[in-house]
Order: sequence, then C-alpha cells, then structure tokens
Amino acid sequence: CKIAIIAGGDSSEIVVSLRSAQGIYSFLDHDRYEAYIVKLKKSDWHVDLPDGKTAPIDKNDFSFVWEGKRIRFDLAYITIHGTPGENGLLQGYFELIGLPYSCCGVLAAALTFNKYMCNHYLHAFDIPIARSILLRAGESISNDDVVSRIGLPCFIKPNVGGSSFGTTKVKETDQIQPAIAHAFEEGEEVIIESFMKGTEITCGCYKTRQHEVVFPITEVISKNEFFDYEAKYTASKVSEITPARISEEIASSVKATTSRIYDIIGCKGIIRVDYIIIGNTPYLLEVNTTPGMTATSFIPQQVKAAGLEIKDVMTDIIENELT
Ligand code: DAL
Ligand code: MG
Repeated sequence: CKIAIIAGGDSSEIVVSLRSAQGIYSFLDHDRYEAYIVKLKKSDWHVDLPDGKTAPIDKNDFSFVWEGKRIRFDLAYITIHGTPGENGLLQGYFELIGLPYSCCGVLAAALTFNKYMCNHYLHAFDIPIARSILLRAGESISNDDVVSRIGLPCFIKPNVGGSSFGTTKVKETDQIQPAIAHAFEEGEEVIIESFMKGTEITCGCYKTRQHEVVFPITEVISKNEFFDYEAKYTASKVSEITPARISEEIASSVKATTSRIYDIIGCKGIIRVDYIIIGNTPYLLEVNTTPGMTATSFIPQQVKAAGLEIKDVMTDIIENELT
C-alpha cells in the first residue's frame, strides 16, 4: 500500500510542514506501508525517491515514474500547514482525481482555516470565543475603534495562517497600525482579537469507524510574551505539560467540546483544538485540521500520554480511508 506524505506548501509554515512530514514518515508502520514524501511548492510537485533522486508528479493522477515504472498512490497523507493543504484546495484536487486522503474534507478544511468564520460559526453552537474584528484588504480601522471595541492588550494576526506568523500581541495604542500592516504581509485578511488572560491548553481528537479518541489535554506555558513562533519551536522557550494541571471537571468539559467541534464541523483524521481557560470556561482559540506532527509536536505527546502507540493511530486513520 503506497502512501504519499504531502509536505511543503506556499505559506510561511513550509519548514514546519517538512518537519511534520519527517514525523509522519517515522510514525508509519513500514512493514505495512510504502511511504514517499511528496513536496509541493507552487507548481513544482515532486516525490523524493529512495535512491536520493526526485521525480516529478503527474498532476493528472498524482502518479510518478521511477525506473521506467508508473507508480500510483493509494492514499495521500496531507501534512501541509497552510495553503494549499490546510484550506481545502488539495482536498478538492484529491476529490477530483479520486485519491483517498487522511484529513478533513473541502468544506471543513476551508472553514477551519478561516479563524474568523470558523470561530463565529462555532459560536452559533454556544462555544465561547474572543471578541474580534475582521479587516479585509483595503479596509482600515482607527486606534480608537480598536481600543473601544476590543480593548488592549489585543492580538492582531492574519485571519488565515498558522504557527503565529504575522501575529503581534499589542499592548500600546501606537503598536496597533504597525501590527495590522505586519499581519497583512501574511495574507489578505487580518483579525483583531481581544486578549484572553488564562490558561492556554490544546486538545487533540480523532475518530474512525473503530475508535473515537480525545487525547489528554496539554497545558502550554510560553516563556515569551505569548506562544509565538519561537516558543512553538524552541523547547527552552515553552513548558508543555500533558495532562494539563486543570480540574477533572474542566478537562471533561474541554474534551466534550473538542469532540462536539469535531462532529459539528464534520472532521476526518486528527484535529487539535486550542483554548484559553478563564475561570471554568474554555474559550476557543482555533481549530487545526492539519496539526503539527514533528517528533516533539503536541499530538505525538498526547498520544503517548494516552498510553497509545502513534503507529497504531496512523494505521487506524489510514485504514479508515482505504476500507
Ligand atoms: N500550525 C501548526 C503546525 C499547528 O497548529 O500545529
Ligand atoms: Mg494553528
């Protein structure tokens, strides 16, 4: 059974994606699956071959030719964070060519990758979220409006994107406009969100015909001003504690909410939902449908804390799509 681990992409998260692909490769059962890493960058799609060479991917059916033989994949395991892997574009392509894939479908991916739309959609199901304002390209907002409608501190970030690229925690009025300009460098929409002071946590979940698993929750304590890019990928800049030091009652509520979000959106594969707990209430930060899968990412930590083998989780997800 041939698996394409799809990495790369066209966003700032490309480096993280390449590391996640190495993670997925190492987590797979290689007695069962023949895995190849396929790298996509704009129109350059190629597969890394075991002999150290690369071969171009035929976009008509996602196949390639190696040593004179055409090789077709049975499943695509998407691990591109950002466009085109986390926002539904690749999912649409794989639907069109009829190749099974590992994660959420077109609508779920497109919705969850738009923080503003996703959070407001989930708010309609009574899930608490931060106050926020969306700015589209060409739109502006005065400092006074930000202060009166959202307050300071606030977060200013690209509406689509991950790993905190383009994100600023704004404490002073004179930082507002530079932070908006910085966020617009990453994309065409910017979200201004109220700062929520509380305990940051994250909770992974996956469901197949065989299993429904909500993983133990991880507590995140950033040593930086917030859980920024450096803290996300530098072990000395963060403490990640699984299971989180929160009451049983709050943990159950977070797990139930995560499972509910999975069903409301109609997810597939592994998702990870980030929250801030204020008092007894978990406020939704965002839903990640292509969560980081590097060896030190949250999901592998949570799988271990659950007493599960990541190899078995991968096999469960893959077989769920293939059978
Ligand atoms: N966007 C990063 C990879 C994550 O959510 O894990
Ligand atoms: Mg994210």
